[in-house]
Amino acid sequence: MSHTKRHPSTVCVQGTHAQTSGPAVVPIVQTSTFVFENQQQMLDSVQGKSGGHVYTRWSNPTTKSVEEKISALEGTEDTHILASGMAAISSAVLGLVKGGERILSSDSIYGGTVQLFNKMLPHNGIQVEYVDTDELVDHLADSGDKYKLCFFETPTNPTLKIVDIREIADAANATNTISMIDSTFGSPINQTPHKLGIDLVMHSATKYLGGHSDIVAGTISGSREIMANVRSAAKLLGGTMDPFASFLLDRGIKTLSVRMERHNFNAKYLAERLKKDQRIRKVHYPGLPSHPHHAVAKKQMHGYGGMLSIELDTDLEKTGKFVDSLQVFLNAVSLGGVESLASIPALTTHYGLGEKALREMDIAESTVRLSVGIEDAADLLQDLLSALDTIV
Ligand SMILES: Cc1ncc(COP(=O)(O)O)c(C=O)c1O
Repeated sequence: MSHTKRHPSTVCVQGTHAQTSGPAVVPIVQTSTFVFENQQQMLDSVQGKSGGHVYTRWSNPTTKSVEEKISALEGTEDTHILASGMAAISSAVLGLVKGGERILSSDSIYGGTVQLFNKMLPHNGIQVEYVDTDELVDHLADSGDKYKLCFFETPTNPTLKIVDIREIADAANATNTISMIDSTFGSPINQTPHKLGIDLVMHSATKYLGGHSDIVAGTISGSREIMANVRSAAKLLGGTMDPFASFLLDRGIKTLSVRMERHNFNAKYLAERLKKDQRIRKVHYPGLPSHPHHAVAKKQMHGYGGMLSIELDTDLEKTGKFVDSLQVFLNAVSLGGVESLASIPALTTHYGLGEKALREMDIAESTVRLSVGIEDAADLLQDLLSALDTIV
């Protein structure tokens, strides 16, 4: 079967090529350097003519085979895998934006990205301007040639807002701006932004792609032309993925498609039931028809994901008690693993921002973010209901 006909779940398990001989599983090429017969052979590799590997900071066969898989899932020509999501973002931004140029960013993005943008990029003469997520499209469309790059996330953390991916891509094209999405919450199973016109698709592969909370990794995918600049920067910045971690990432991706089906199912099941519970003020889940961006989510997502947030009808102290009472959901940050996790943004990712700033982001002190895993949905619901019983 030609790889163009392979569906995502087949790509996840078997990649893009028919395997006719050799190991069934991608070998771990745990080496820093590669040996050549002579200088000509080495030069051909250094110049990129032979496709050979020279030094693992530049490329590695284990990592490369996973990169090909992710490109096939995202529908891009190229993917680069790095040692973390942050390494992927910093390599992309520093590879593409020069001092004196500007970035437009949605204001609902991961806190680590905000810190990179605010603390590190100004050292390089790069300024980042933030706009409300709901105003991003209009702002970009009216920006002329002001920005080099437009950065956004969808779904967003922790209130699961949805940005219209195609509208951003169209506005970016019209203004000659490079569009870049952090697609971590979506996963390449639930959304494929490059197919909707986005130039660069980034993931913290620590989350759904890896899927087992046992690696830290990042991916960045796009056209060969744009990725050439990203790869050059990544090579110099040195956030290189270790081959063993690439092996674990590949092993995780084999079950990505079935895991996402279960994440999608479990989160929707919980969202629908929790919505009816009087002890919960709000349920943020894009799969609920009452979600303000449900129509956009329906249009651009194949599933609504495993992330959901609930706002309890109580104060911060009791919210802490609620999370501490959970028995199946683990009390931890991060997301996207097989195990369900619960965290309070006001005490973790959004700590110290104060009630007013939180309210502007539609986050309350009693908001709990749930990364819904792949356990039995009934056990997860029972866990949440029992914890709610402890605070009323
Ligand atoms: C949406 C999102 N983007 C990027 C990152 C950064 O990824 P990493 O921790 O793999 O560097 C995270 C980490 O939590 C995240 O949640």
